[in-house]
Amino acid sequence: MRFTVSPYGLEDLQHIAEIEKECFEHPWSYDSFCMEYADKKKHYFVAKDESGEVIGYGGFAHVEDEAHIMNIAVTAKARRMGVGSAILRAVLDCAEKLGIVAITLEVDDSNAAAIAVYEKAGFKCAGLRPHYYGWDRPARIYWLRF
Ligand SMILES: CC(C)(COP(=O)(O)OP(=O)(O)OC[C@H]1O[C@@H](n2cnc3c(N)ncnc32)[C@H](O)[C@@H]1OP(=O)(O)O)[C@@H](O)C(=O)NCCC(=O)NCCS
Repeated sequence: MRFTVSPYGLEDLQHIAEIEKECFEHPWSYDSFCMEYADKKKHYFVAKDESGEVIGYGGFAHVEDEAHIMNIAVTAKARRMGVGSAILRAVLDCAEKLGIVAITLEVDDSNAAAIAVYEKAGFKCAGLRPHYYGWDRPARIYWLRF
């Protein structure tokens, strides 16, 4: 499948919210993404297929000289085709251009797909944050230093 990855626009927010709803137990609302869009310290990217359909998104918050990845998600029908990794690449490239020196994220300890994508990109697990996603559902904390 051919796809492109580019910075998001206002017109993408509804589609992002739909993918979010499909992918997460406690999804962010459309309004939350509107607030992200208004915040100049947030940087998001969307992947679109050849027909222009949004098939994934991901973004980060710029805090001092660090970045915090908020989320990366790909619609089920487009997974395992390199889309998640390409979005992550766009996120890392953007962070590096902004002079960011380190990038962090939390991921559910049981989320094998996301863990694989982040580790392939060079992220190192720095430890577990207990009960982060609910009782007995720890988060792995990852860091990548440029
Ligand atoms: C995590 C997610 C974004 C990955 O997106 P993707 O487009 O499928 O990822 P890619 O195709 O770039 O995968 C890259 C590599 O990661 C690994 N990987 C991806 N999905 C995997 C899975 N389900 N199980 C094991 N390894 C997996 C593989 O090594 C894969 O390379 P390969 O297909 O050549 O073997 C996607 O599964 C998703 O949206 N999940 C639901 C939302 C979510 O959990 N987001 C992360 C929150 S932190």
